[in-house]
Amino acid sequence: MPKSVIKTTKKKAGSGQEKILFRAPRGMHDILPEDQPWWNKARKTIDEVADFYNFSRIDTPILEEAAIFEKGLGTTTDIVSKQMYVLRTKGGDRLVLRPEGTTGVIRAYFEHGLSRLSQPLRLYYVGSFFRYERPQAGRYRELHQVGFEMIGGEDDPIYDAQMILVSFRLAEELKIKNLIVQLNSIGCRNCRPVYRRRLQEYYRKMSSGVCKDCRARLNLNPLRLLDCKEENCEKVKSGAPTIINHLCQSCRSHFKAVLEYLDELGLPYTLNAYLVRGLDYYNRTVFEISSENNASFAFGGGGRYDYLGEIIGKRKTPLPAVGSALGMERLIEEMRSRGVNGTLRSRGRVFLVQIGSPAKIKALGLIEKFREANIKALESLGRASFKSQLRIADKEGVDLSLILGQREVFEDSIIIRDMKSGNQETVPIGKMVEEVKRRLK
Ligand code: HAM
Repeated sequence: MPKSVIKTTKKKAGSGQEKILFRAPRGMHDILPEDQPWWNKARKTIDEVADFYNFSRIDTPILEEAAIFEKGLGTTTDIVSKQMYVLRTKGGDRLVLRPEGTTGVIRAYFEHGLSRLSQPLRLYYVGSFFRYERPQAGRYRELHQVGFEMIGGEDDPIYDAQMILVSFRLAEELKIKNLIVQLNSIGCRNCRPVYRRRLQEYYRKMSSGVCKDCRARLNLNPLRLLDCKEENCEKVKSGAPTIINHLCQSCRSHFKAVLEYLDELGLPYTLNAYLVRGLDYYNRTVFEISSENNASFAFGGGGRYDYLGEIIGKRKTPLPAVGSALGMERLIEEMRSRGVNGTLRSRGRVFLVQIGSPAKIKALGLIEKFREANIKALESLGRASFKSQLRIADKEGVDLSLILGQREVFEDSIIIRDMKSGNQETVPIGKMVEEVKRRLK
């Protein structure tokens, strides 16, 4: 991960100041105050987009029972077989630091009887997830995701299109441009087994040309053969049969309708016949979103998962559902590499400079006046020197500083200093907020 997004532990942290005894665990990061503007902007935009498309927030525990992920994601997926942080509690429970959010949300859907609410239920979440991966640029062991899920109701293809739309709009709102949506359908219980057999037949003939992992996948989870990034395996893949040619009539018309909705919305997309995704719970539509900056490195992905409800719930019939998740570190990296400013400047900002004890005491009350007027008043009340306070005001990039010295306290006035021009004017304290508002317009 470039230094610009979050501090890497390799950097000589606090160089020259403190000796380091402990570092953050490998692949995990501190998000420092200087990084927060981008995170805040992302969080605020997520809340706005979710609100606009009528998604309600849900928060589920960081730990879930291990069996949920084993059943829900599939024991042969990389996430379950290699990447889960599993722990045993003192009481003997086997729990996992959640590697993804969808499974926990579906668990909560059943546990709290959320099918009684209007369906499809639209939920979103933001939080930490954990995957024991080999850390590298854009790949961490603690990662943050925003996820959107639409659960229940019909398996109407319009929801698939809406889910892609929400993910697309979120990236757009974060000023990430030249977006690429890759799309595929991986069929259903009826048509996928036929395709799986075709794929196995093909790969059996080519097995000498693929990696060791892929030879194991051939029997365990043949669809995952299409997800291998090894150079030789990529070559073999290019000749493999495609699932799109093996879809049943019903999956074919579902997928066609998704594409028609996307066309109607004017959302650009590319068909990728080999897109399968790394989790077993998907059926029909699957998609990934990246940008032209790095087309092969998705910052978001999702799809339909109608069978997950049956797998981890007690249902005897599918629970139609479609969802998407976007990696926040990757989104923020995209924002920063495009020079998107992280600062939220919804409120006016001023800096209060105080000189001498009476001014310091009075400053406390003046800050409250600004709070009432919804103007953010910064200060450095612990500092006495006029110069050092002004220097901080300058660094903070405020438009105005308010200067309160002994004379002003005595005269019940305050000096307003325009930080750009350096012009100063003394105004009565009673008119301070009004005068500041006028100048901040
Ligand atoms: P996923 O593709 O595994 O899907 O993860 C979604 C996004 O999380 C990825 O596109 C990526 O941006 C980010 N991500 C994943 N792993 C890492 C990592 N090690 N480091 C940094 N970022 C990472 C899911 O998790 C599904 N639950 C999405 C979904 C929701 N499907 C249906 N509903």
